[in-house]
Amino acid sequence: MYNQPMLKDDALKGKTIVVTGGGTGLGKAMGTYFLKLGANLVITSRKLEVLQKTADEMATETGGQVLAVQCDVRDYEQVENVLAKTIEKFGKVDGLLNNAAGNFISPTERLSANAFSSIIDIVLKGTVNCTLAFGKHWIASKQPATVLNIVTTYAFTGSAYVVPSACAKGGVLAMTRSLAVEWGKYGIRTNAIAPGPFPTKGAWDRLLPGDLAEKFDFKNRVPLKRVGDNQELANLAAFLISDFSSYINGEVITIDGGEWLQGAGQMNGLEAIPSEMWDMLEQMTRSAKGS
Ligand code: HXC
Ligand code: NAP
Repeated sequence: MYNQPMLKDDALKGKTIVVTGGGTGLGKAMGTYFLKLGANLVITSRKLEVLQKTADEMATETGGQVLAVQCDVRDYEQVENVLAKTIEKFGKVDGLLNNAAGNFISPTERLSANAFSSIIDIVLKGTVNCTLAFGKHWIASKQPATVLNIVTTYAFTGSAYVVPSACAKGGVLAMTRSLAVEWGKYGIRTNAIAPGPFPTKGAWDRLLPGDLAEKFDFKNRVPLKRVGDNQELANLAAFLISDFSSYINGEVITIDGGEWLQGAGQMNGLEAIPSEMWDMLEQMTRSAKGS
């Protein structure tokens, strides 16, 4: 059931939505669902060939209209070009999904200054560039709109070995909450999704290379004992970018099967205790009364 489409067929009819990093992985999955719900779609990233192939696949699968525009989100002029091409093709733009990201695991002391900056530039600066260019346009043209940012759960917990990404995603979360207030008066809603593990080639090649995927099998970290399905993320994203979520602003919604909380609760490790031991443990804790 969780991998079934959730919203009614025309939930995004007449909307134009731009998805950064829309040629692969989760961006592709969310974009495909937006099209199925009647949206016009613009996908962007650095690799035009990948984008074009995805756009063709998406159009064949959904019958919707997809425009592929090459754009490195680190470059503000390229972002402005995406905006211009979108208006030229579809007349207006209603939603921006900031999904593009860069990441890899490394002990922080092994990173060069440039390695650290390259992640901050894609994730934080890239999201800022897109949000700023689109926001200026929406405010000037008095167009209500929605920004949806893909962060991670370590945007609020922090995480070792992905420190540049944690810093950048934390910054994106701060921007989400700040602009929700500042731009609410213009009819611009700003929200975020914090996904737990959703296996994609892009993420798994950089976070779990080689046999790390078996050693650190993510589903063992999740109380529900499974990883996420792309459609359940797409369902949440479509809801947050649609008018059905019109009163949700400045929110970050976690979709991780309870993963981050399992890591956080002090006594959660007791999960490892076999059930037959609990009778004995109960006797011991009861006998501690009065001691
Ligand atoms: C140490 C590294 C490195 C590594 C690159 N660098 N990889 N340092 N360990 N594994 C250094 C380089 O030596 C260089 O520094 C600097 O980083 C920039 O590298 P470039 O290759 O020139 O950068 P660029 O071509 O811009 O590529 C960016 C990239 C790459 C991030 C390095 O992996 C990329 O294109 N990624 C896009 C897709 C992606 O990452 N997807 C995963 C998102 S997953 P020097 O000093 O040598 O010049 C995600 C999941 C979150 O965010 C949570 C999941 C549970
Ligand atoms: P992915 O397939 O690698 O997606 C990342 C996308 O970003 C790629 O399409 C890439 O395309 C694009 N990109 C990278 N640098 C760019 C740049 N400078 N300019 C424009 N586009 C750029 O990985 P994914 O797993 O789907 O990740 C999607 C989002 O989900 C990311 O924000 C990630 O942090 C987040 N997330 C993923 C997981 C997970 O478990 N998969 C968990 C939490 C959060 P090009 O290389 O063509 O530019």
